Amino acid sequence: MTQDLGFSKGLAGVVADSTSVSQVQGEEGRLIYRGIPIEEIAEKSTFEEMTYFLLRGTLPNKAELDALTMQLKAARTLPKHVETVVDAAPKTAHPMMILQAAMAALAFEQGPVKLGDVEANVATSVKLTSQLATVVARASRNRRGLAPIAPKQELTHAENVLYMLTGETPNKDSARMFDVALLLHMDHDFNASTFAARVIASTEANIVSAVSGAVGALSGPLHGGANEKVLAMADSIGAPEKAKDWVANALATKAKVMGFGHRVYRTMDPRAKVLRAMLETLVSKQTDTKAKATYETLRIVHDSMIEELSKKEKDYIWPNVDFWSGALYRLMGIESIDFTPLFAVARVVGWCSHIVEMWGDNRIYRPAAKYVGPMEASIAALEKR
Ligand code: CMC
Repeated sequence: MTQDLGFSKGLAGVVADSTSVSQVQGEEGRLIYRGIPIEEIAEKSTFEEMTYFLLRGTLPNKAELDALTMQLKAARTLPKHVETVVDAAPKTAHPMMILQAAMAALAFEQGPVKLGDVEANVATSVKLTSQLATVVARASRNRRGLAPIAPKQELTHAENVLYMLTGETPNKDSARMFDVALLLHMDHDFNASTFAARVIASTEANIVSAVSGAVGALSGPLHGGANEKVLAMADSIGAPEKAKDWVANALATKAKVMGFGHRVYRTMDPRAKVLRAMLETLVSKQTDTKAKATYETLRIVHDSMIEELSKKEKDYIWPNVDFWSGALYRLMGIESIDFTPLFAVARVVGWCSHIVEMWGDNRIYRPAAKYVGPMEASIAALEKR
């Protein structure tokens, strides 16, 4: 018999490693990136600045920020073979699967891993962050039967992603909203995709392979895939006046409502608050009645869920980041199927930051299993089975 080492389904509450990249404070509904509250980051920072900060651990000075910005811009064009992989995908393929394949193709160029070479690992991370965004835009345009758009050098990362998706340079308000949405999604301590990236990189596999695996983990509806499902839910409800009954029925049948619940938060996800505030500003300027109705449907689902769950003593289930992000992106003209890839555009920085950090003191992740199979079995002859 092996020693009983303790057991926690889904690793709930298990501390698998230490990190200084970010922390989710579940009871307080607080999220910090290296000590800075997410609300302050959303108000004052930019994707470029947080990329530097998360990867390196210090805020950049002007010269350092300019250098990082130039590195991101310089890496925007994809290698030919990666374009070929993206373009070869059938139109019906989910963009997260195309992204995962494209990341695997980017790994073709990776040399041997040097754990202690922080400069090389940060440089790979920055390049990968830039290229992942170009893949997302290219796959989206291919699916919509539109020609890919070459990146524009003078644009920021957020502006350029929107430009490559839509073909139009976004106005300052849209660009800032998208930049903030990226900031909110960049890291979230040991979420499933980050943990997947850490597991892969802990074997000393290269960063790009780890990111490819993390994209797969993010694609699932219990994780990043929830934002796409929230909008599918709003569409299936059909009209705001049906939302209250829909919630009652969902709870009565014990259906999971996408965009609600979290392993760590026991109150409102602070990212959901920031997103909702931006969304309300956007909705107030909208003339499109369909978009307004979608928002209204989600608002009623949101409020009814909170009201009903408190009656059922399930007041630990609250909206998470995915509840509002898709609605914001839809109002910005982005198709639902591209929501989760946009999550990856931001989270890639978190994945890489965790790997760079972990490689400073690496140990392979190899948990124990609680074996529940037979102890004494043997192979019966084929004719006797
Ligand atoms: N709707 C209704 N009930 C829920 C929900 C929900 N969204 N989430 C959890 N519950 C209930 C669940 O049925 C269970 O009840 P009971 O104890 O009676 O069986 C209880 O709450 C605990 O849920 P759990 O699924 O065991 O909790 P978990 O920590 O294993 O899973 C979760 C967390 C996020 C996967 C889950 O809440 C969920 O599936 N939510 C919907 C999908 C979603 O929005 N995912 C995005 C997560 S946040 C951002 C991200 O990672 O992308």
